[in-house]
Amino acid sequence: MTLDGFIGTAAACPELSIVVPCYKEQPNVRPMVDRVAAALPGVAWEIIFVDDNSPDGTADAARAIARVDSRVRCIRRIGRRGLSTAVIEGALSSSADFVAVMDGDLQHDQTILPTMLAQLRANAADIVIGSRFVSGGSSAGLSSAMRHRISNLGIGIAQYALPMRITDPMSGFFMVPRASFEQIAPRLSGVGFKILLDLILSAPEKLRVLEIPCQFHRREAGESKLDALVMIQFGALLLDKALHGYVPMRFVAFAGVGAIGMIVNLAALWAGHAAGMHFLAAEILATILAMLFNFQLNNRLTYRTHRLRGPRLVRGLVLFMLVCGLGAVANVGIATALFSHAAHNGLGAAAIGAAVGVVWNYAVSSTLVWRTV
Ligand code: GDD
Ligand code: MN
Repeated sequence: MTLDGFIGTAAACPELSIVVPCYKEQPNVRPMVDRVAAALPGVAWEIIFVDDNSPDGTADAARAIARVDSRVRCIRRIGRRGLSTAVIEGALSSSADFVAVMDGDLQHDQTILPTMLAQLRANAADIVIGSRFVSGGSSAGLSSAMRHRISNLGIGIAQYALPMRITDPMSGFFMVPRASFEQIAPRLSGVGFKILLDLILSAPEKLRVLEIPCQFHRREAGESKLDALVMIQFGALLLDKALHGYVPMRFVAFAGVGAIGMIVNLAALWAGHAAGMHFLAAEILATILAMLFNFQLNNRLTYRTHRLRGPRLVRGLVLFMLVCGLGAVANVGIATALFSHAAHNGLGAAAIGAAVGVVWNYAVSSTLVWRTV
């Protein structure tokens, strides 16, 4: 075939890309495409499913439709998890004028898509959000009273961090010009679930926000992926934005785990003492216990993306204990030296010693134990 043949068959780029992050949403894929198609007559749209290698065949379901309908695309990520990063990668694969982000579980009301698009076409706003809390919207689809309470708490915290008033900053349903998404993309944290909040807090200039009432439907199939980790990630996102990205969130998590480990250490020491153990024996036992605790928590939380299992877990644990043992020696050494040389400020010397210790432990854990780089 000649080049002319290709040019002759080329179709124009869609005006609107709808990015749908999905994990285990296989039964919802087909109805999602049908509903979007029905909601957008006369609009050149495409839908981009971004699936994190779901075991239920979500990507296969999307690709089966894509083979007969070129408006449907699928990005399958392997060895990755995360709603926000899925959205970022989906949006960056678009060449359309506008990008919408929508859940893949049919909870967002697709019938407001044309209104969102009309507002952006008219340049009435920089971002249009589907809100459950402006008049006409509803959050009835949240599964329990507990979910309502958690949601309200999150909204309150987010509103405090925002430069403008938004009734539903936790919404996962919005539309932006692609050019603006691309401009903000390098500044995004990409942590957790709250990509809308991330976008607004990362924008170099204050965005003109427009909220449109949206019904939040009850989930029909599959289950929510919101869990305790997602809530911790929400805190990490806000902290990352407050620190302007200068301190790695992984370091904050590592230091936090270390602080909890210190409490474990002291509690164990106290228990050993109460049980009549010799001080040195109790101290050694308490230190080992705290290290085991820290290692487990770091493996599951701080380094969950590089989690060690099986034989690598044992090797990692031994290395971690050696590394932290050296860190502890350095900590005590520096604190003692500073204490004797610098005005006998015990608290200051201990703080500097601990800071050097935690940076050392973090650097070696990241490179040698969990090998993140
Ligand atoms: N690719 C990918 N990877 N997709 C994910 C992941 C992931 O790790 N985790 C969740 N998703 C997808 C889900 O499959 C779904 O399509 C969408 O992201 C939202 O996830 P749900 O688990 O259904 O979230 P929810 O219903 O609890 O929360 C929704 O409502 C909130 C408002 O209360 C989301 O839209 C939130 O963004 C929104 O804030
Ligand atoms: Mn949902």
